[in-house]
Amino acid sequence: MKAIILAAGLGSRLAPATRVTCKQLLPVYDKPMIYYPLSTLMLGGIRDVLFITRPQDAEIFQSLFGDGTRLGMNYSYAQQSTPEGIAQALLIGRDFIGAEPSALILGDNIFFGNMFGQQVQDAASRVKGATVFCAQVTDSERYGIADMGADGRVRRFVEKPVDFISNWAVTGLYFFDGEAPDLAATLKPSARGELEITDLLNIYLEKGGMEVELFGRGTAWMDAGTPSSLLDAANFIHSIEVRTGIKIACLE
Ligand code: DAU
Repeated sequence: MKAIILAAGLGSRLAPATRVTCKQLLPVYDKPMIYYPLSTLMLGGIRDVLFITRPQDAEIFQSLFGDGTRLGMNYSYAQQSTPEGIAQALLIGRDFIGAEPSALILGDNIFFGNMFGQQVQDAASRVKGATVFCAQVTDSERYGIADMGADGRVRRFVEKPVDFISNWAVTGLYFFDGEAPDLAATLKPSARGELEITDLLNIYLEKGGMEVELFGRGTAWMDAGTPSSLLDAANFIHSIEVRTGIKIACLE
């Protein structure tokens, strides 16, 4: 399976730290943020990765990662000139993924858990439909949220609900079948001018091909998009690494 890491965006909530530096290259404790989602893909057995960056960051990403052969990986690069939505990654990466199933991960999402690698491998082995992972949060207005019925089934996904719907947030790791670029091409920009990933997920939900996996207590998920969440993520990684002596997201 091929995968896209989306690492563009303005990083405006982290300004001024992101005024001249790309968010996904800021350190989370002892390594650049982007190492964490990249290691998630590697845990899932994915070796072909397309980095989508802002044009001004393209060179620095290429000098950081090269072509990937040093690590047995195969890296490609593409650019997003304006942040017009997460689902746009599937259009930018269309030639890269072709008509095959693919994964998409956000460059600021950090996952940690004992069973997680196996869950990613299982999702990567599905050839039809889509798979997302949901995690419980206390600040549901910041995320795409799964609206669940009394039977526990997801009825729809809602992007950043103003009123409380549920505390199950959709994490930034998505698996799609080969139809995803065609379906993404049918999306219309939302009120905030973006091709919303939740709209694409709702299409899969309506088609009946949506797998929603809920994280249990043993899996941690963080997005490092605000000063507080960046600090929390760094402290989390620091605690585990110092206590166990084992590095998290050691790509080598
Ligand atoms: O972190 C999970 C959440 O990510 C999901 O629950 C939401 O459904 C999803 O919309 C997204 O919400 P965010 O508010 O975190 O999205 P944000 O605009 O911050 O973008 C997330 C990352 O994707 C960020 O690192 C920048 C990158 N990005 C985003 C957009 C919209 C791009 O590279 N290009 C873009 O056009």
